Amino acid sequence: HRHLLGIEPLSPQDIVTILDLAETYVDLNRQSAKHADVLAGLTQINMFFENSTRTQASFELAGKRLGADVMNMAMQASSIKKGETLIDTAMTLNAMHPDLLVVRHPHSGAVDLLAQKVNCAVLNAGDGKHEHPTQALLDALTIRRAKGRLHRLNIAICGDISHSRVARSNLILLGKMENRIRLIGPPTLMPSGIGEFGVEVYDDMREGLQDVDVVMMLRLQKERMDGGFIPSEREYYHRYGLDAEKLALAKPDAIVMHPGPMNRGVEIDGTLADDINRSVIQDQVEMGVAVRMAAMELLARNLAAEPRE
Ligand code: CP
Repeated sequence: HRHLLGIEPLSPQDIVTILDLAETYVDLNRQSAKHADVLAGLTQINMFFENSTRTQASFELAGKRLGADVMNMAMQASSIKKGETLIDTAMTLNAMHPDLLVVRHPHSGAVDLLAQKVNCAVLNAGDGKHEHPTQALLDALTIRRAKGRLHRLNIAICGDISHSRVARSNLILLGKMENRIRLIGPPTLMPSGIGEFGVEVYDDMREGLQDVDVVMMLRLQKERMDGGFIPSEREYYHRYGLDAEKLALAKPDAIVMHPGPMNRGVEIDGTLADDINRSVIQDQVEMGVAVRMAAMELLARNLAAEPRE
């Protein structure tokens, strides 16, 4: 693959290849000297048109640990503010010969469009409600390490499904790896017709959590609700917030995941989120650096193999 724009085009073997390489970087990242030089001499530009803590920090660290020259464009201070378009901005940076462009954008499809215009590798760091491929890959690595496998697991994805690129990328990845997926959330936050995609849909969280191996919580994406129905946080927590009592319905060794940023007391109880016997939220963050190192290394290898037009 030339770019990493989504999970959709990846085969199960592609996914395993990325996770296996990432596994080697988990070990490297735990050492005091964290450097490899597989991206030495390459230029990585990070363009985040939407806020980020985890994704931006981990892409920056991933590039630096692999020896790339990494530049973070401060999009708020860029000429986008003077009316320059996304594509003109991308073409301007492309003329400086970057090798890897990491892009987050609030519009679904914006990163794909940009990838068609530039001659470097593009990594999607989240585009609107569409895809967040490195999130799904880091979630997959976290699950594989905690459960010892990435297939035939019962996985519940809970909350605001309809606005979530994390849910979409995970649904595609976990489906490709032949897991049983349940989507749990209020009907107002569930995409219509989703039941036709081989998933089970639940409105009642207590029913949906029965015997699952993995509980993946999502944030209420209020910024994408554009004037539509926004549930009251109190009511939402009562019905769909994960607490110890609801988690007791899952398997006794079920793990709790959240991509972050989390809203404690809205979709998840803070004590449960911090419980290292159940919550793998910090492992997800750790795996994020390793997965992004692996994804960039594999794309850089492809760039070296294929001449750019
Ligand atoms: N999970 C995730 O994408 O977090 P950030 O928005 O902080 O990058």
